[in-house]
Amino acid sequence: MSKEVLVISTSLRKDGNSETLANEFVKGAKEAGHKVETVSLRNRTIGFCKGCLVCQKTKRCVIHDDAEVIAQKMLSAEVIAFATPIYYYEMSGQMKTMLDRANPLYPTDYAFRDIYLLAAAAEEEESAMDGAIKGLQGWIDCFEKARLKGVVRSNSVTDVGDIKGNSALQEAYQLGKTL
Ligand SMILES: Cc1cc2nc3c(=O)[nH]c(=O)nc-3n(C[C@H](O)[C@H](O)[C@H](O)COP(=O)(O)O)c2cc1C
Repeated sequence: MSKEVLVISTSLRKDGNSETLANEFVKGAKEAGHKVETVSLRNRTIGFCKGCLVCQKTKRCVIHDDAEVIAQKMLSAEVIAFATPIYYYEMSGQMKTMLDRANPLYPTDYAFRDIYLLAAAAEEEESAMDGAIKGLQGWIDCFEKARLKGVVRSNSVTDVGDIKGNSALQEAYQLGKTL
């Protein structure tokens, strides 16, 4: 069955490693017949959550910027994949800010169920991604109808293009194909 898939690429580096992972995931998902939309956080205006919690009553954010629009896309997606570079053993700050800004979705009848993480890190140890997984899991735990369905780790990639030939690309493609 065709699903609505939203891929959020959070690296601000053009053609970077996590974005390349995201592209492979998208390719697989499209080939499998899913309706896929990709959003990059590059060149977007995304303010920090102010913590006012007005959104818990209104289901809308008081900040009217690109994160508000992206959160609305998250609301109707059945599958969401986040692609992130690992920064200091965590998800990128821009990804964390986007998760915070998705707080208006908490009181809604959101459609997303399956969440994926596609991560790129310079280090070769797979544990470099553990903090990002834990962080995303914390967000998912608050959205009880959702679950972390899959993770792709691309290690030993530092510069743009390093991911070429990395087995994680095939993994991301296969994951997209089997949503
Ligand atoms: C601020 C910053 C912090 C980073 N911290 C880590 C880290 O803790 N562990 C690691 O393996 N790589 C770290 N890296 C390297 C990136 O994860 C790596 O270059 C990755 O391929 C970038 O993905 P991108 O091309 O999608 O932006 C860091 C890079 C930056 C800019």
